[in-house]
Order: sequence, then C-alpha cells, then structure tokens
Amino acid sequence: MGTFTNIYRSSVGKKFIVGLTGLFLCTFLVEHLAGNFLLFVNDGGAAFNEYSETMSHNIFIRTVEIVLFLAFFFHILTATILWWRNRKARPKNYTQNHKSANSELASRISFLSGSIVFIFLVIHLRTFFVPSRFFPSENPSMYDLVVFAFSSTWYCLFYLAALVLLGYHLRHGFQSAFQTFGIRGKKYQSLVEWIGVIFWLLIPLGFASMPIYFLWTTHFGGMN
Ligand code: HEM
Repeated sequence: MGTFTNIYRSSVGKKFIVGLTGLFLCTFLVEHLAGNFLLFVNDGGAAFNEYSETMSHNIFIRTVEIVLFLAFFFHILTATILWWRNRKARPKNYTQNHKSANSELASRISFLSGSIVFIFLVIHLRTFFVPSRFFPSENPSMYDLVVFAFSSTWYCLFYLAALVLLGYHLRHGFQSAFQTFGIRGKKYQSLVEWIGVIFWLLIPLGFASMPIYFLWTTHFGGMN
C-alpha cells in the first residue's frame, strides 16, 4: 500500500497508472467485442443470452468485473488529476500564444474525448448492465434489450459518435502509454503503431457494426 501511495504521489507514477489501467481496459475491449459478436449468430439471440448469463453468474468473471471497475475508476481519476495539474501549470497567456503546441493540444483533446467516452459509458451501463444485474426479472433478455436499444436512430447515432471519440482517445492513449513505459524507441515504433491500429481503428469499427446492423435490420430487415 505504501509503495502504491509513493508511486501515486509522483507525476511519472501517475502517468504509469494511467498507462497501465488504460492497457488493461484495452484488453477488456477485446473480450467485450469478441463476446458481443455472438449478437450476429442467427439464432434469435440464444447464444448471446447464454454468454451473458454465464458472464453474470460466474464467480471468476464477477471478480474480474470488480478489477475492471477499479481500473476505470483509477484511470479516470488519475488522468483528470494530471490534466488539471497540467492546466494549472500553464502560463496565463499560453492559450493565446501557443495554441498549436502539440502535446498540450493532444492532452486537452484527450481529456475531452475521454470525458465524452465516460458519459457514453454511464449511459451504456444504465441501458444494459444495470437492468440485467439489478433487475433481471423485470427485464427482457439481454438480446432483446440490445435489439430494443439499437432500434432507436438517435441512440445509434450517439453510439457511433462516441465510438469515433473512443477511437481518437485510444489513438493518442495507446502511443502515450508505450512512451511512458519507455518502449517506444525506433525499434518498437512500427510494432506499437500497428498494434495501435487494431485498438483505435478495428475495435471501434467492430463495435460500430452492432448499432449499424440492428438499426438496419429493425428498419429494413423485417425484425420487430
Ligand atoms: C457498441 C457495441 C456494444 C454493445 C452491443 C455492448 C453491449 C453490452 C452489454 C449487453 C453489456 C451487459 C453485459 C452483462 O451485464 O451481461 C455491456 C456491459 C458493459 N460494456 Fe458494453 N457494449 C458495446 C460497446 C461498449 C464499449 C465501446 C465499451 C467501452 C468503452 C463498453 C463497456 C462496457 C462495460 C464496462 C460493461 C460492464 C462490464 C461487463 O458487464 O462486462 N461497451 N455491454
């Protein structure tokens, strides 16, 4: 605990925590996307509902879920503290004179994109996680919840906008994390960039395919 407090006190330590929790959250995205692809199995949602049931009753998964929420908490809290300190340390006329300074701009846009992804997350959890975990008997199956949510054009547009910002957030965050860990030298640069593309482009595209698919099928594909 003492070591954690010491790491947390320093600026470099905080950057390390943001990078580490960020990469952990990236691994969650891979698992989440893979599970959600079951939505595309043509069985009326049976496979997806079974997967969702397993996830909500398995003790190991429930424990990992606590770690996941802690990672979100520390990632958001620490990134906000760093952003706030950065902002306070900036000279008063900085914004007018150096608006295009790259690292400052990236950090500001990163904070903005992160904040919108956070709002997305709150709405997302309210739509799927809260009803399924806290009021399971009052709600339809998880598959039906997804179909219902994505039958709304506005809800889908909100998802798509949030996913664009998630992509932007990951593009900056992924590079930045590896820079913090000191493994972004010339030798590793192109590898990190390629893996980065999977996270900031392919994963958000994979998630985007879901609202697009359900919006299309409910409106044009004969789904109720
Ligand atoms: C657009 C496609 C997405 C769909 C269809 C989707 C669907 C779902 C569903 C059905 C749940 C509830 C799972 C359960 O309680 O059994 C859930 C939970 C969750 N989702 Fe998503 N999700 C999507 C995108 C995202 C994205 C982009 C993020 C992160 C930025 C995210 C983060 C979470 C988190 C943190 C949980 C709670 C933890 C968990 O239950 O695993 N989701 N999602």
